[in-house]
This record gives sequence, C-alpha cells and structure tokens, in this order.
Amino acid sequence: MTASKNAILASAAALLLSACGGGDGGSPQSPSASAPSPTPTPTPTALTSQQAYTIALDLWRNDDLTVHPKGSCAGCHGPDFIDLARIGSTDADIERRALLDGATQEQADALVMAVTDMRTELGFEPTNAREFRPFQPGGAVLPGTSSDPAIASVERDIAFGRQLQTLLPTLSGPTITSLGQAHQARAEMLDLLRGTNAAGANPGLIQLRDLPTGIAYPLWSADFHHGSEEGTFNDWIADIARDASPGRKAEWDGLQDTYLDNPSTENFWRMYHAATEMTEPQLLGECTMTQNNAALACGGAFDFNKNKYLSTLIGQHLIRIGPEGRDAFMQGPLAFAYLDSAPQLTFMLDRKDNFLLPGNPWEIGDRGRVMLSNSNQEGTFRRDLAELGFPEFVLDSIDPLRSVTEEQEALRLSWFWIGFTMDPSFARIHKSNSTKTGEYMIASLLRENMFLHNSFQANMRIIASGTLPEASVQRQGRGIAPLRVTPQMRLHYSYFVGYNRTILRWNGNIPDALRSEQEQLWHTFTANGFRMGMYLYEDELRRGLTEPTDVAFEPIEVHFNHYQPEHMAHDQMLVNNLRGAGAY
Ligand code: HEC
Repeated sequence: MTASKNAILASAAALLLSACGGGDGGSPQSPSASAPSPTPTPTPTALTSQQAYTIALDLWRNDDLTVHPKGSCAGCHGPDFIDLARIGSTDADIERRALLDGATQEQADALVMAVTDMRTELGFEPTNAREFRPFQPGGAVLPGTSSDPAIASVERDIAFGRQLQTLLPTLSGPTITSLGQAHQARAEMLDLLRGTNAAGANPGLIQLRDLPTGIAYPLWSADFHHGSEEGTFNDWIADIARDASPGRKAEWDGLQDTYLDNPSTENFWRMYHAATEMTEPQLLGECTMTQNNAALACGGAFDFNKNKYLSTLIGQHLIRIGPEGRDAFMQGPLAFAYLDSAPQLTFMLDRKDNFLLPGNPWEIGDRGRVMLSNSNQEGTFRRDLAELGFPEFVLDSIDPLRSVTEEQEALRLSWFWIGFTMDPSFARIHKSNSTKTGEYMIASLLRENMFLHNSFQANMRIIASGTLPEASVQRQGRGIAPLRVTPQMRLHYSYFVGYNRTILRWNGNIPDALRSEQEQLWHTFTANGFRMGMYLYEDELRRGLTEPTDVAFEPIEVHFNHYQPEHMAHDQMLVNNLRGAGAY
C-alpha cells in the first residue's frame, strides 16, 4: 500500500513539473462534481493529478448516508479540501479519517494525492496541524511561560498591555487632563480599528485583526485521536454535516462549483447566502432536555451548528484568499459592513435582520453558551451533548472527562475574541443586550485574569460604537439597506464596571510581582479610558450631538479613589462637569 501511494506521489510530482508554466494560472480546481455518478476508479498507479482531484471531490461531495453515515465531507469541512492542504494534515491522518468516514482505499489514496498536489500548487508552507492556529494574529499567542494556567494567563495579559503602551500611548501614559488629549487617545484607537496611522502611533498600520493577543485561536481540527486536549468542539470544522435538502443537491453543488472556479467575494456570498436555505443538519437528533431553560438550550444546539458551519465557510474562504485577500474581503473595522451597499451584492440584503452582519464566529461562543447553560455548570460535556440530540459519533469525538464548564469557557474565550475583532462595536452581531454590552465576554476575560484585554475591549466598544458610521444603523426591513445614522457618544460601560469590577480581583495564586505589574498597567489604561470617555461625552453633550444618559459614576469614582487618589481633584471636576452637562 505504501509503495503504491509513493508511486502516486511520484507520478503527481512528475505531472506537476510538466504542468508548470502551463497557462491557466488559476487554482488547481476544475470542479466537475455536480454529477454524482460513481467515477470508475482507475488503478492507482495510472492516476493523473486531474483524475485524483475528480475522485477526491466526488468523495468529498457524496452525501449518501448509506455510504457516509456522517454525511458528506463537504457538509462539515466546506466546498473542497483546501483546509486539509493548508493546516498540514498528515497523509496518515487524511487516510485514517477518510476511511473512517466511508471512503474506499482508492478514494482515500486519491484524496491524499489531491491534497498534496494542492499544497504544492498553492505553495502552502509546511505546518503542523496540531499546533497551527489559522488566523492567530501575529502568528503566535502572546507568551505565558508558567505551567500554572492562571499565572500564564496573567503573563499573557501583561504582554498584551505592554504592546498597548506603544500602540495606544495616550491611554497608556500620563493622566489625561484635556479634551485635546482625549481626542488624541481616540485617534490612536481609531488607527488600530482602521489599520491607519493618522495619530502617529501605528507606523506598522496594525489593524485589530492583526493585533497579537494572549487568547489562543482555535485549531482548524481538534481531533480526540491525538489526545484528550483535542476532545473538544473548539475548532473550525462543523460537527454535524449540513448537506443539501431534498431536491436541492444539483443547485447547491452548482453554487459550490461556481465558487471554486472563481472564489470571488460575490461568489462566496452567493454560496453563503444559499447555504441556510439549501442545506440542513440531517443528523441532529431530538433534544430531550427537560430542565429549566431546556427550550433555549435546545434551540441553542441548532443555532450553534448552523453558525459553526457558516463559520467553516468563512474560515475556508479566508484560507483560500490568504492573508493578502483578507482586508478586501472583510473591509474595515466592522467586517462585511459593505454588505449594506455593495451594488453587485444587493441579494445579500435579503436577510432576516439585515442590520446585523455575519458574525457567525461570535455566535459559536454565544450559542455554545446558550446550549450548555442548562446544566447548572455541572456534569460532562458528553452528557449534555447526548441530551441536546447530538449523535453517537459526535459524542465519541469528545473527551469523556471534559466538563461542560470547561467546554463552555473554551468556546466563549476564543470565539468571542474573534467576534470582537470582526465587530468591535458589538452593535451589529446580535440583537440581545448582553451581546451589545459584551456581558459574557467580560465574564470570561475576568475569569481568565485577562484584565488588560478586558479594559481594551470595553474602551474599543465605547469608541467604535460612538464614532464609526457603519456601527450606527437602523433597521429598515428585509431587502432594504439599513439606514446609517450619525454615531453618538454614550458611556455605557455596563458589566465592565458592574459588581465592583473597577477593583481587581484575581483567580488563582498569582505572585505579588506579577500582580503589581499587571495592576499598574491596568489602572493606568483603565483610568485614562474613563477620562477619555468622559471628556468626549461631555463635549458631545454640550454641543448637542448626543443625549444625556446614565453613567455609572459610582464605580468609576471608586476606581479613581482606589488607584489614583493623587489625581482626585481633576477627576472629581471631570465627573462634576459631565453631570453638569446632563449625564446622570
Ligand atoms: C460530521 C462532520 C464531518 C464529516 C462528514 C467529515 N468530517 Fe472530517 N472532520 C470533522 C471534524 C469536526 C474534524 C475535527 C476533528 C474532530 O472533531 O474529530 C474533522 C477532521 C478531519 C481531518 C483532520 C484530522 C486530524 O488529524 O486533525 C481529516 C483529514 C478529515 N476530517 C477528513 C474527512 C474526510 C475525508 C471526510 C469525508 C470522507 C470527512 N472528514 C467527513 C467533521 C467531519
């Protein structure tokens, strides 16, 4: 078997060499998979690169449950196998999973060959699928060296705070004492939102989505086969296949083919838009939960799966277009806000609640929270999955010892952060107030001792929602572009300052030296964040540009008093002035 595979690879290499310089210059894909008729399988040694691709794509799209009891590979991974090529799945892993999911040996061999060809042709650098985290900003998680996770988390948070000292020097520096400094602080934040350098602190043109963080982004594939740490849902591949609904297969395959032929932004959205209508999760079973909130949790399971699959589509597209294509696809601080007005994409206005933007990665964290919130945070993740209607093969992919709390936290932490980098205003992700105020994200960051990450996101939310036009829209109904209105500053710190959170409390045993370093960075940044917000809000109030609303003055004053009593005279004046301008 090994010998014949080597022969295939050798012939593939020969073929690629001879094909080099041949004119089409496009992707290796030339899909011809719409006809589901079984392709006669030539003897392995006779396979050309094109034949291997055709056999592999036929396998990939085959949703016959009698042959592939989990559904089609495409139903979970996306339109083709570019993900396996990119993350660096080994031949052995590809063969193992293909055979496990109903492929014949010949099909598995062809898939290995097709993935290898694609890797070569697209020039993907070798990566280790067990470590490679696609889209991790800066390529690596900020360093935390301690073996104690609570301490490592503090170390990562400090590293995050240190990079803010260069990128947001006004917030990280001396006490802000004027409206001018508040404007400067905001301009530095806007640079980071837009990837510009108008304020002079961002010469590298770093955009929020490139900003290294202490939060590990998910692996593309976390496979329990490789150890208990990987026995989780916290990866990019959908767990339940969405395959074509009865009678829709030809149409659905056609959209995927058009997209693979020319993976343009338009073709992507045409496929994405049709996905929820043309496909369904045939293997998600009946939800049998009966406790409080069971209905919510059960609905959460369906939504979780839908959002995971749509995130897989977005993730595969990001892999396909590469880092160079990302900015043109996402565009600006609020990813996909161009869907409001792009002429060739008007079909995208035909979405329920089109004032919300596709924030599916955020929803993996949030629907994961909802679907797992029924268990009173006790018991194993497997047990909850069984009650939620997930089939046996999904349960088997989970570490039996993994608790529901652990899983929920893991999903929330990484996917909320990804969601935040797609909409830092939180204004167009979900209608719920808890999303708009970042309630559960705040809880997760605090649990992890990530206080600087937390203060950063809270201030980003206030500035993004109070400044960016694309973050301020009113719904006009399905089919009609949401109306853009002038953004108004508000100081809704909400859960960020609730429950005495303006004074730090750590989880775990954190050495004093680390605590004081983190605390110093944190209160400098946080107190200046409050000052920036108050100066900007007061100014807009006095100029009649925004309305008076409530501001949580008390916990802010507690913060000032506790950490920076030496500036109390100034800070008290600021509070009084803001009250004088109408805030209450
Ligand atoms: C029901 C959804 C589903 C279907 C159908 C499916 N996969 Fe997967 N696949 C996954 C998930 C989820 C993972 C991530 C690992 C895990 O959770 O087990 C994965 C991981 C993989 C991996 C990487 C494993 C590793 O070592 O990291 C390969 C290779 C793979 N799948 C190939 C296939 C092939 C080939 C098919 C079709 C014959 C297929 N898959 C069908 C969901 C699916």
